[in-house]
Amino acid sequence: MKKLFFLILLLAGCAVCLQAQNPKQPSWLSDAVFYQIYPSSYQDSDGNGIGDIPGIISRLDYIQSIGVTAIWLNPVYVSGWTDGGYDVIDFYRVDKRFGTNSDLVELIRQAHARGIKVVMDLVAGHSSDQSEWFLQSKEAPDLRYSDYYIWPSFKPEGGQNPAQGGSLDDAVRNNASASLLSKFVATDAPRGPYYIKNFFDTQPALNFGFANPDPGHPWEQTVDAPGPMAMRRELKNIISFWMDKGVDGFRVDMASSLVKNDPDKSATIKLWKDDLMKWFGSEYPEGVLIAEWFNPAQSVAQAGFDLDFFCHDGQYNYSSLFFYGRRGFGPNATVTMPYFDEAGAGGLKTWYDLYTYQYDAVKGNGYVCMPTGNHDFNRVCTEGRTNPEELKVAMTFFLTMPGVPFIYYGDEIGLKQNPAAPSTDGSGFRAGCRIPMLWDASANAGFSTAPIEKIYIPQDPDPNRMTVEKAEADQNSLLHYVRGLLQLRKEFPALGADASWKLVSSLDQPYPMVYERTRGGERCWVVLNPSAKAVTVTLPAETAKPELIGGNYKKCNYRQTRKGDVISISGVSAAIYKF
Ligand code: GLC
Repeated sequence: MKKLFFLILLLAGCAVCLQAQNPKQPSWLSDAVFYQIYPSSYQDSDGNGIGDIPGIISRLDYIQSIGVTAIWLNPVYVSGWTDGGYDVIDFYRVDKRFGTNSDLVELIRQAHARGIKVVMDLVAGHSSDQSEWFLQSKEAPDLRYSDYYIWPSFKPEGGQNPAQGGSLDDAVRNNASASLLSKFVATDAPRGPYYIKNFFDTQPALNFGFANPDPGHPWEQTVDAPGPMAMRRELKNIISFWMDKGVDGFRVDMASSLVKNDPDKSATIKLWKDDLMKWFGSEYPEGVLIAEWFNPAQSVAQAGFDLDFFCHDGQYNYSSLFFYGRRGFGPNATVTMPYFDEAGAGGLKTWYDLYTYQYDAVKGNGYVCMPTGNHDFNRVCTEGRTNPEELKVAMTFFLTMPGVPFIYYGDEIGLKQNPAAPSTDGSGFRAGCRIPMLWDASANAGFSTAPIEKIYIPQDPDPNRMTVEKAEADQNSLLHYVRGLLQLRKEFPALGADASWKLVSSLDQPYPMVYERTRGGERCWVVLNPSAKAVTVTLPAETAKPELIGGNYKKCNYRQTRKGDVISISGVSAAIYKF
């Protein structure tokens, strides 16, 4: 009897320590794996060359088979299509290129039936200049939507405009961080002479007020002025409209952009934390809010988002791991080699310092997520890194780090960046990562039955291109490897979102990188060697030798010696150990 009592106590203890760390987050989040779909590029169902919602529905079985549990859709709202759907004309209606609101509800129904959540993109900071709100606001100052936008009566002197190049690509790169003054757009609208934009000129900023309004600038309203308060009510309406149709939450586009002249983001944080988050949490406790903020220490730890990204943009990014010397994302674009490269000439320190700062700041409050890619930067499978074994090493990293994994559609088969893709729907260089999915050997790789010249963005013409069909048939493919990794994550809580993380190897010897994940008494080590050469590392002695539970290694050897524990691993290899 006594024994049974202790057993129950022990099991209850385990259940408590395995629970999601943050009680405020949706119960499903800690086990979630997201799959991001750029809807124009996934599957065309009506033969016009552009992907749509019925197309996505037809691929749900495949999506489920990968092992993902949630889909994030880039914007599907009625759009002017000058920025890939991020210039929204009608926030309450699905664009006809994708189908209807009913199609979206059907997608949600069918996804839910497979245990898959559906998350939309919420463009909170701006609309299209073609939206009914803006068209009305630009006419006069006393109409219903007049104060949804900001109308400076003059352009203040001073303030440094950041160097803006002339091309669309430069505009994309510089826009998010540009100063407010550079966001003044001259207009001959009756309400002119200026409005404030958020990103492109076609994306006027919505008016959530100013952090410290300048009395000399009459257009700068306080955050609690009637206009900005009406704007917040509209935002809540949009959220409720879709949540009440069954959506499971939102990825919030440029979430840090709402309050203007807010350099330390304190007013924007307050707006989210004290109003929107409180409201959302009580209305939709099982809904998720994902920030595009690129600073989890602010968005997650302070504003209350469930998670935020750590990828290519902002001060906190993983560019040194994947892009240095190739595409030049991030502040140190002069460094010539990324870490994940066969050359084995990269380093870990830049990334480590940025990542650990964020990881420590959010611990227990939500997640720092490192997506495999997204619609704004280069795919992991890009020039110089197309070997499937290299991609397996990178995927091992993405899918065994803390936080919730995000797989960008196609990365599971090694869909390759197309650097020559022509700018489409305002993408600039981003077209290269928004290429249509490659499914099979039929015309246009099964993406669409349209004539090839109508395909949304040209597909890889290489006859040897990887497709889902080929990947399914090859047991050694990246796709099967990714499935295996997701299975491991499920089986071993130490590889999951909440398990703790620490680097075991030294920053001075970056190849191989060895990190430890621990949860509820379970302990795993992940060993990554992206370099082409076999490498050996000596680590402090462990009491027992661990067991190999995963990886793509050709050879991996663990020896306990008098000097410590020695791991030798072949080139371009990953290994996962469990103690
Ligand atoms: C976000 C989106 C990007 C878009 C921009 C403006 O960064 O990810 O695609 O262009 O916001 O909405």
